[in-house]
Amino acid sequence: MRIAIYPGSFDPITTGHLDIIKRASCLFDKLIVAVVKNYSKKPLFTTEERMELIRRSTQGLKNIEVDCFDGLLVDFVSNRKAQVIIKGLRAISDFEYEFQMALLNSKLKSEIETLFLMTSHKYSYLSSSMVKEIAGLGGCIQDLVPEEVREDIVKKIKERWGKK
Ligand code: PNS
Repeated sequence: MRIAIYPGSFDPITTGHLDIIKRASCLFDKLIVAVVKNYSKKPLFTTEERMELIRRSTQGLKNIEVDCFDGLLVDFVSNRKAQVIIKGLRAISDFEYEFQMALLNSKLKSEIETLFLMTSHKYSYLSSSMVKEIAGLGGCIQDLVPEEVREDIVKKIKERWGKK
């Protein structure tokens, strides 16, 4: 069984993430979307909230599982018996950092491959941080996050640091 892991902070999921999830899920028997629990940027959404938003956004897709991890990504990949890490590339500026991580992950466990998917050009400008900034300042995030979870995302962002 070919299993791939799509890791990230997903704080929150965007339509760009969803595009990568849909496309990667067609290439593998199973795609595990893996939310990192502790990472340096302090997340706005809790791990459980981030997982729930992904679950609801991917409801129609058959071979998707949502999980979370801390510690080394390569250890999680082996524990879940996966062979491949999926990464989305939006722009050249993503490349250097992603290239470094792919090489280091391969140094840690050479049997694990990193597969890069180019984000569709219509999502190349998107990021979770921009979504938070726009919604926090009262802007419209239609089309930037999956429709099913838009209201909840806006509500949480406004509660935390948006215009009242
Ligand atoms: O969505 P992000 O914030 O770009 O995701 C980054 C993530 C979670 C993929 C990266 O920080 C990661 O792999 N963290 C796990 C810790 C780890 O394995 N670090 C060594 C990478 S070489």
